Amino acid sequence: MTVLVSGGAGYIGSHTVRQLRSLGRNVVVLDSLDTGHAQAALDTPLVIGNIADAELVNQVCGDHKVTSVVHFAAHKAVGESMQNPAKYWRNNVDGSARFVDALLHAGVKQFVFSSSCSVYGTPAVVPVSEAAPIDPESVYAETKAMTERVLRWYGVTSGLRSVSLRYFNAAGASLDNAIGEDWTHSANLIPVVMKAAMGMAPPVQIFGTDYPTPDGTAIRDYIHVEDLANAHVLSLAYLADGGDTIALNVGTGVGSSVFDVVHATERIGGVTVPTTLAPRRAGDPVSTYSDPTLVRSTLGWTPEHSLDTIIETAWRWHSTHPNGYAT
Ligand SMILES: NC(=O)c1ccc[n+]([C@@H]2O[C@H](COP(=O)([O-])OP(=O)(O)OC[C@H]3O[C@@H](n4cnc5c(N)ncnc54)[C@H](O)[C@@H]3O)[C@@H](O)[C@H]2O)c1
Repeated sequence: MTVLVSGGAGYIGSHTVRQLRSLGRNVVVLDSLDTGHAQAALDTPLVIGNIADAELVNQVCGDHKVTSVVHFAAHKAVGESMQNPAKYWRNNVDGSARFVDALLHAGVKQFVFSSSCSVYGTPAVVPVSEAAPIDPESVYAETKAMTERVLRWYGVTSGLRSVSLRYFNAAGASLDNAIGEDWTHSANLIPVVMKAAMGMAPPVQIFGTDYPTPDGTAIRDYIHVEDLANAHVLSLAYLADGGDTIALNVGTGVGSSVFDVVHATERIGGVTVPTTLAPRRAGDPVSTYSDPTLVRSTLGWTPEHSLDTIIETAWRWHSTHPNGYAT
């Protein structure tokens, strides 16, 4: 009864692996270490390799008696996906399809997938529920929407049951500061704010200060990485209990503005965050945050951590690991 975690040496994957193991679950990680780090997997068995390698996947499933999978492995840079789409179709869509095919050959039929709220594009209504139309605005987002559909079809043709978790903005680090995000690969707001606050990057550009929001800046739903990890643990339990294929939003339902993040960082870090005001960026939604009703009723999941905890844990992690896992 082992859980195979693809991408388990990455940011969200490593927090999920740790949580599963703290609950006594057997886990094996499969990661190419393309953007992940062996140190993040701690002492969990780690197989270095590619999800698209069917022979390897089959061998790992046999060697470790794998019965379920959490699939994080993917490329995730939206900008890069528009510059080099082939890299994203190949790894995120083709790689996922090959991975599932190999898993099914090995008899594994329970699958949790890292999807993204970006599948909704710019939502017409907030909070965003799962009933909102799927309308990706980047190659990256399209790879997530396509993989969700691939998984549904494998349900029809082969009996795969899957939970696609549409994450909002993952942030923060483990509460004990053991693992966190490697910010060399991240263009997300919180790492960018922290880097600027620590004098390791230019001032934060605030794109748009004239939005129709209380302080004029854009609003997002930030979710602590340990709360997010818990949604995967609960999804595995849901599938083990016979749950059907479903897609669920994973967000707190609380929207925080760019200035909320900047001001919380200043208060918690005792620093001034250098900022410059810039015009709105094309394609940036004004406001997006989750309607968490369905994830609550389906998994019994509720987030425990606030924006302050996100900022506190991220600040502690980045200030003690300014070079990520290289320090
Ligand atoms: N970080 C966020 O806010 C966010 C939001 C929505 C969705 N997601 C999705 O969550 C997942 C995890 O994101 P993350 O932030 O932890 O990213 P990450 O880059 O830290 O982790 C991805 C991991 O997958 C591995 N990987 C990539 N391609 C692989 C392959 N072909 N074979 C084996 N391993 C491979 C990488 O080495 C890395 O360890 C991704 O699928 C991402 O698209 C992330």
